[in-house]
Amino acid sequence: MHGQIRTAVVGTGSYLPEKVLTNADLERMVDTTDEWIQTRTGIKERHIASPDEATSDLATQAASRALESANVEAGEVDLIIVATCTPDMLLPATACIVQHNIKAHKAVAFDLEAACSGFIYALSVASNLISSGIYHTALIIGAETFSRFIDWKDRSTCVLLGDGAGAVVLRATPKSNGLLDFYLGADGGGAEYMKIPAGGSRLPANHDVINQRLHYFQMRGNETFKAAIKLMSYSTKRVLKQSGLSIADVDYLIPHQANVRIMEAVAKRLSLPLDKIIINIQSCGNTSAATIPIALDQAVQEGKIADGNLIVLVSFGAGLTWGACAIKW
Ligand code: ACO
Repeated sequence: MHGQIRTAVVGTGSYLPEKVLTNADLERMVDTTDEWIQTRTGIKERHIASPDEATSDLATQAASRALESANVEAGEVDLIIVATCTPDMLLPATACIVQHNIKAHKAVAFDLEAACSGFIYALSVASNLISSGIYHTALIIGAETFSRFIDWKDRSTCVLLGDGAGAVVLRATPKSNGLLDFYLGADGGGAEYMKIPAGGSRLPANHDVINQRLHYFQMRGNETFKAAIKLMSYSTKRVLKQSGLSIADVDYLIPHQANVRIMEAVAKRLSLPLDKIIINIQSCGNTSAATIPIALDQAVQEGKIADGNLIVLVSFGAGLTWGACAIKW
């Protein structure tokens, strides 16, 4: 980080909807088995928002918990970014709804869409706005209600995704710890790998696109799988190199939770023991931009992360987008 002021995570929070959808439930919905889902993805169950919950509701809960853990009042927040690709509506921004819900009246609020990499992209934007002295306190939220965009008849995608939200409070810190460096990347040449084709300006909502089920998430799983391993391994190495650190310095890697086999392959490529990888996909599935802040909050709650630990967050997602962030806790 080349700014003059360093930024640190001063609080974390997360929220998972109460309803749990198990692999056994999915066996009754599509032609799949618990055994296939567990061996091919590592997922056992995922949380699903209730009919009256939308992304801003999940985000609001996670944000309130993060503020509480940071001992920061909503009125002190200068900036709210919600990383999401499943917003409440195309407009207004989900972040504005959260700002109103938590009464963070002085905060600037906007959404950032970089799919599963959205949380790391948002951290980078906020960290730079703080280190340049423009803002002091930021609330960064990854929140998704993917269950509303899944084709529940498509077994190749519906077993993977879940709903949830995670949040962190960022503040300028006089200490030498905090967010050390970022590496971000994108390649729109891979835009076809993962998409929700309809509902935007290319294919606005109408009866035809709905009949063709084009308003649901589509993915080319195999190509995505290979790209995820390559780009998450590279991003981790790159951010460590930029920070003058090496794999041996890493206490925990918190990767985007898309498939346990992707995380295991990344660990192998990096020669990082599996007990240094934070994995919660078995109980949450893939919550897109929310996977990393949820896993981070759970690791903090479980007392895994100690002061001075080196944590690397790394992600990959639709766009294509990818990125990593090195944090000295
Ligand atoms: N149950 C049973 N069989 C299934 C299921 C299922 N739920 N889904 C697919 N299959 C079948 C396929 O039809 C195929 O059958 P066939 O050989 O008769 O054609 C077979 O299983 C193997 O399919 P593959 O796609 O080759 O399976 P693979 O081992 O690649 O696993 C998976 C598929 C889990 C989707 C994997 O490719 C993956 O995890 N991809 C990456 C996902 C990812 O990283 N997404 C990024 C983020 S998502 C986002 O941005 C929102």
